[in-house]
Amino acid sequence: MAKLWGGRFTGGPAAALEALNASIGFDWRLAPYDLTASKAHARVLNRAGLLTGDELERMLAALDALGEDVANGTFTGTIADEDVHTALERGLVERLGDLGGKLRAGRSRNDQIATDLRLYCRDHARGLAADVAALVEALAAQAEDLVDAPAPGMTHLQHAQPVTLGHQLLAHAQGFLRDLDRLRDWDGRAAVSPLGSGALSGSSLPLDPVAVAEELGFDAPVGNSMDGVSDRDFAAELLFVCSMVGIHLSRLGEEVILWSSQEFGWVTLDDAFSTGSSIMPQKKNPDVAELARGKSGRLVGNLTALLVTLKGLPFTYNKDLQEDKEPVFDSLDNLALLLPAVTGMVATMRFNAEVPRASAPTGFSLATEIADWLVRKGIPFRSAHEIAGACVAHCEARGIELHEIADADLASISEHLDPSVKAVLDVDGALAGRTTPGSTGPKAVADQLAQVRDAVANAWPKSL
Ligand code: ARG
Repeated sequence: MAKLWGGRFTGGPAAALEALNASIGFDWRLAPYDLTASKAHARVLNRAGLLTGDELERMLAALDALGEDVANGTFTGTIADEDVHTALERGLVERLGDLGGKLRAGRSRNDQIATDLRLYCRDHARGLAADVAALVEALAAQAEDLVDAPAPGMTHLQHAQPVTLGHQLLAHAQGFLRDLDRLRDWDGRAAVSPLGSGALSGSSLPLDPVAVAEELGFDAPVGNSMDGVSDRDFAAELLFVCSMVGIHLSRLGEEVILWSSQEFGWVTLDDAFSTGSSIMPQKKNPDVAELARGKSGRLVGNLTALLVTLKGLPFTYNKDLQEDKEPVFDSLDNLALLLPAVTGMVATMRFNAEVPRASAPTGFSLATEIADWLVRKGIPFRSAHEIAGACVAHCEARGIELHEIADADLASISEHLDPSVKAVLDVDGALAGRTTPGSTGPKAVADQLAQVRDAVANAWPKSL
């Protein structure tokens, strides 16, 4: 079996070394990217006079044939191949004989793996962005029906001030829009090609890293070959974006779990996006939302794992770097599973809008309106806050809500109060009064909805 490094060794590898050292068990999915990069490298070898025109044609045809065999599963790597690069060179030599061995000139697995992983990440980041955009669209579609639907807005999970459900749903959308923005920024930084860095120092052969970069869709080659083979910032940054998406999903998941509980009763999840219990026949569980919350743990863990692997590594390539791939694959795989399920759950859940509407004014959530009413009459907010607080205490002692304070009692709470204050103790009125950009009033939310839709329609990679 052809190792790429057998020349100076007398004995074969120990089974324990081989089992530990091999990445073929997880890097095989990079095969299509490795083959694409190989074709670009073959063309450069030809232009450098190191492959004849005829050799290039045979090489490209063999790489295409190998690609088909990889795609349909008739060619696969084995543990003895060590990694995807070794396996594909074996496949090439099986098809081309000695000519297959020419492709390795001027190239190392070190610049190959750095290139393959970048290509994989850039490709899959586009899929991730499409999945995030679909979720934003689902949130926007729900928000559209709930632009003026009141709910108790909360801080500390306590009733704070009334908000509209549309506003709260779009608050989730805003985080995902920032994630789309992060992916666009990330792609710009990831768009450099390490191919041509060789093992670490570049190459004495007349290669053309600029042409290779262009052929592979990168903006430019790396500026430093030593950095080129050891930089994994792009992987760590992508894992950060995945973690941030995961954290946004966990917050959405947590709210859906609360909203669908018996105690809240704000939403009913569709049967298609709920699960049952093996013992309690009545149960309908929000598993999708719980997995949205739960998977954030592994996403953050994958980021942490890679950052710790990278910390303190001397230049340039070290085998530690082989640990870069599984966290990246795991995060992208899990988000590819999770996002469509969360989008489906959001798109199909039904809001029982009358429930949050009824509770919106409870818990004295309109107390701030009394304070603002006093401020409009010229009372300093410091005193207005005290007076509104006294209204709350009055109600609490009697088990009534603010709008139920007897007209006669108002003046005894404060000389500044009179029955006309009751006009502001109305949820719809309080919401309608919130008209500044970004606030919760129906008009401002309708504007926000249009902006969110515009942003997602033009989000990366569509914005290219
Ligand atoms: N399988 C290796 C990795 O994933 C490829 C690079 C190997 N380079 C080396 N010098 N041994 O990082």
